[in-house]
Amino acid sequence: MSTRKKRVGVLISGRGSNMMSLIAAARDADFPAEIACVIANRPDAAGLSKAAAEGVPAVAIDHKGFSSKEAFEAELDRCLRDAGVEFVACAGFMRLMTPGFVDGWRDRMLNIHPSLLPAFKGLDTHARAVAAGVKLAGCTVHVVRAEVDAGPIIAQAAVPVLDDDTPESLGARVLAAEHRIYPAALSLFVSGRVWVAGERVCGSQVSVNQAEPLYWPPMD
Ligand code: GRF
Repeated sequence: MSTRKKRVGVLISGRGSNMMSLIAAARDADFPAEIACVIANRPDAAGLSKAAAEGVPAVAIDHKGFSSKEAFEAELDRCLRDAGVEFVACAGFMRLMTPGFVDGWRDRMLNIHPSLLPAFKGLDTHARAVAAGVKLAGCTVHVVRAEVDAGPIIAQAAVPVLDDDTPESLGARVLAAEHRIYPAALSLFVSGRVWVAGERVCGSQVSVNQAEPLYWPPMD
């Protein structure tokens, strides 16, 4: 690839398995992004040492050390800009962001959520999906807006919900899809192959022949 890789900052709060999927994908010379830094809002986030072990600069900015959300976000923003970050990928970052911070990264900040948005915004998505009896669950990569778990959708993956699923078994199936879809969606977005237009993401060159329905249970 001739064009320069875009610099991406990844925000985490915990184990960082999605972060690791982004780091792994970005190693490919043809991937249009490099992971410039990983920032956690918790010093004990397990993902920090995993990123460091991959040679990615990883720092904690403990939100508890700041007197206000704005002060925490100002430091976060400074760190991202110091690292030359052009796009932000939230990957299990468990802090609500102010509209001011979100606007500063408008159309340059992505998030992954473990449901087929706009269904099941918020926490405990898999338990709620199992309880609701939905037949398809999944995950969504979207552009971040000030409203929680909302914003233009870049990509979604649907997985079946089985009769004997627990929140844990469903969560594992969704997580495997997350690890595939987040690097793919990041690649589409930072390369400009898809873009935000009128609060929808468009540009993916998919033909109607590829637009097969997904049935669950399978139909004969
Ligand atoms: C993922 O399920 C993600 O969709 C959600 O938080 C979880 C983070 O997991 N936002 P990990 O830290 O990436 O393993």
